[in-house]
Amino acid sequence: MTASIDSLVKEVQETGSVSGLPDKHFIAGSFRALGNEALDCFDPGTAKPFARFAAGGAEEVNEAVAAAREAFEGVWRDSLPPLRGRILGKAAELIRARADYLTVVESLDSGKTLSEAKGDVANAARTFEYYAGAADKIQGDSFPLGPNCLAYTVEEPIGVTAHIIPWNYPLAMLARGVAPALAAGCTVVAKPAEQTPMTALLMAQILQEAGLPDGVYNVVTGTGEAAGAPLANHKDVDHITFTGSVATGMSVMQAAARNITQVTLELGGKSPAVVLADCDLDQAVGSIAGSIYKNAGQICSAGSRLVIERGVRDAFLDKLSAQAGSLKLGHGLRDPDVGPVNSAQQLDKVSGYLSDAKARGVATRSGGSTTSDPETGLGWFVEPTIFDDLAADDPLVQEEIFGPVLAVQVVDSLEEAAEVANGTDYGLVAGVFTRDTKKARWLTNKLDAGQIYINSWFTVGIEVPFGGNKKSGIGREKGLEGLRAYTKVKAVGERF
Ligand code: NAI
Ligand code: MG
Repeated sequence: MTASIDSLVKEVQETGSVSGLPDKHFIAGSFRALGNEALDCFDPGTAKPFARFAAGGAEEVNEAVAAAREAFEGVWRDSLPPLRGRILGKAAELIRARADYLTVVESLDSGKTLSEAKGDVANAARTFEYYAGAADKIQGDSFPLGPNCLAYTVEEPIGVTAHIIPWNYPLAMLARGVAPALAAGCTVVAKPAEQTPMTALLMAQILQEAGLPDGVYNVVTGTGEAAGAPLANHKDVDHITFTGSVATGMSVMQAAARNITQVTLELGGKSPAVVLADCDLDQAVGSIAGSIYKNAGQICSAGSRLVIERGVRDAFLDKLSAQAGSLKLGHGLRDPDVGPVNSAQQLDKVSGYLSDAKARGVATRSGGSTTSDPETGLGWFVEPTIFDDLAADDPLVQEEIFGPVLAVQVVDSLEEAAEVANGTDYGLVAGVFTRDTKKARWLTNKLDAGQIYINSWFTVGIEVPFGGNKKSGIGREKGLEGLRAYTKVKAVGERF
């Protein structure tokens, strides 16, 4: 794991893979496979498999949950908070020490560009560092019931937590759920997406080396149906953190309801960038291009809708389409501007929206087609696309495409902008671009979203709470707010 990025990339170019990849579940402190079933792990930049991993099911999930329960009761619930902090801090250090390997594996597994993967690895380290510092600051309150009474609360760890992770930010999203759970004294069973299982397994090695006791962090790999569903249905899981589609989120919540298990759901969005005529045009174009073309548009908080005032629309779209057209596509490990989408299924899904738009004669200002790596002719790629002048009920406006596809809606007033911006079932993030502070504040007040950006996009850090309204989800992750999911309040009253 000490090889440099350059030599690892060379290894992939020569062999199609990298050495040292885990291929088993991680349960009770060791890598194990109970059965022989395995699945291929694909490189989206070539559409070719580069590794195999264990395909687990209910049996593996039961063992992992049992290990997590035993570790919770036996060691972790009553572990000293500063010790938990030190272990998480050490994990952050180890992530940084192995950043090159993690970066190349994450890029190869997900398709994302090297620069983006590097950012995700740094983000994961920072997340562990942040919650390391929080582990010994989880505290309760006291209440004035009178001179002969003492009433206080204790924040206790909630117990065994399940983490069902998507494929767009495999390591970063794992970290944002697992780090606060561990900091709070919870144990973990993680189920990474079947498209991107590698970094969750590599984290097992890192956490073990950092001193995490056996059974506190477990990973079961496999499909959503075979491994995710038994985990969501497990009666000995106390909290489920899920990020993914609305449809799967609903089935996870239904499963949780049967056991009255608490959920945190992050279910994506159709987030509007509201651009007013008085904005700084270059700043707005740059931010919005980044918001929809980064990670090939596969971001829950992508700025996938442009809600723009008519007066500035042409100037804006001229600049944005020039920028979109100049972006270089390619295999993630060559570090282009835009990498492939993550899977054949995702390519199919995006492709369906593109051909439907074409058939309906939607005005296309940029892109509009699927493509391949210009150097090799391989892989699952989508051109950075802009669809102009869409009606409020257009599927391109209403549905999460999860690709580099921007849907433009033209408006004539501030009031209309707010109404149009709020006009979907989602409410994850929103952006406002204007030089007028009053208008920015008015819109910030009106927009129904968990996070609002002003004259920028992704102005975030692990410090800032994140999560959605409406069908974008339930609960908040990140920040100190993100710890709440992993603690339960015990109130104590005493008379003396
Ligand atoms: P998905 O929601 O089905 O998958 C996410 C995770 O859930 C994966 O780990 C998967 O194995 C697991 N899963 C699937 N079915 C399950 C079940 N019945 N019980 C428990 N776990 C289950 O999403 P998918 O099919 O990968 O992508 C479809 C669409 O979902 C994307 O096109 C995108 O629109 C959206 N999505 C949103 C994400 C976000 O960041 N909010 C992330 C990934 C996908
Ligand atoms: Mg993969």
